[in-house]
Amino acid sequence: MKRKESAEEKVGIGQCGITKPEVPPIYATSVFSFETLEDVDAVYEGGKPGYVYSRTSNPTVRLLEEELSHLEGTERALAFSSGMAAITTTICSLVKPGDHVLASKVLYGETHKLFREILPYWGVEVDFLEFQDPADLESSFRENTRLLYVETISNPLMQVCDIAGLCEEAEKHRCRVVVDNTFATPAFCRPVEEGAHVVLESLTKYLNGHSDVTGGMAGGSAADMEKTGRFRALMGGCMSPFDAWLTLRGLKTFPLRMEKHAENALYLARKLERHPAVKKVFYPGLERHSSYGIARKLLRNGFGGMLSFEVAGGEDGVSRLVRNLENVELLPSLAAVKTTLSHPAKTSHRSVPADVRISLGITDGLVRLSAGIETPEAVWQDMEKALDELVEA
Ligand SMILES: Cc1ncc(COP(=O)(O)O)c(C=O)c1O
Repeated sequence: MKRKESAEEKVGIGQCGITKPEVPPIYATSVFSFETLEDVDAVYEGGKPGYVYSRTSNPTVRLLEEELSHLEGTERALAFSSGMAAITTTICSLVKPGDHVLASKVLYGETHKLFREILPYWGVEVDFLEFQDPADLESSFRENTRLLYVETISNPLMQVCDIAGLCEEAEKHRCRVVVDNTFATPAFCRPVEEGAHVVLESLTKYLNGHSDVTGGMAGGSAADMEKTGRFRALMGGCMSPFDAWLTLRGLKTFPLRMEKHAENALYLARKLERHPAVKKVFYPGLERHSSYGIARKLLRNGFGGMLSFEVAGGEDGVSRLVRNLENVELLPSLAAVKTTLSHPAKTSHRSVPADVRISLGITDGLVRLSAGIETPEAVWQDMEKALDELVEA
């Protein structure tokens, strides 16, 4: 015997009498029940609204997807279990054996590994290029080039690419452009408005922003996302409802946080530039950075919260810096509310062969800094003291 009224209806989940909860509930359910077989058909075929199984779709996750799609200016967005799940699933849905891909030379280490090792294993050829001037690309396209892949601000050298220029070149060859926007975030750049077909984000970073979620996102046209969504359902990289809920909470302060991350990054970059233990600073908001011109055109309202710098003394210099710091932590991620450091050679780019890594400029003395949202003067006090000790040693 079916109960006439479910407990949920009794307590009014989603709708509390004539009122509605200010914070949406977490639909912590893996599956949804049906009254009839006809309803099963109707929901599967889209004739009636409803959910079936949370690997395919879940109300809390859908709510996050709606918010993300609004932020990125896309028709549709999909949430994933990690940034890498978003990247691999999207790539799988866009290329097939025999295709050719153009990828930026400087990318997050694991993405580089995917392009270097996994795509060739699947029969997809990849060429790594510098994307600084889109006009130089003309001769790199082939008949079978289907995808061009870049990061808005590259990890870890902070090179900014001319997305609109790249899209114009790619369009001539009927090639899709996919942009990982994790460092720039929609606060500073919306790649789809520049002409990109798909935007990707690691939600683990700024969009959630509290270092307590692992997640990813892909956004684009409804047709592309429908296809990528089918791949997600098969490959299984769905986001948990609880992580979606935490990310929805993180999004509430996203614009404010980004403003402060960028303000602090510029402050710290300017201080670092003048310190004698620092050989070079990479931040697109600095006039002497090679991407400053394009960054000023592409990025709105700021240059992001990430920078990197090279310390004197190579790996030994980095090791001493890390030990000298009292408050700034060594953390192999980014976008925390606190300022943190990481060492790309040993963490994010560990899987890139040393000769390739060094030829790209990711040296053993390179430190990546994720500017937090604290008082920047206090952060600099700690950093200056730690760096001074490198000069004195
Ligand atoms: C630029 C960039 N893209 C993608 C990723 C992967 O994201 P996740 O760690 O959420 O899988 C990272 C991770 O650091 C990253 O830095």
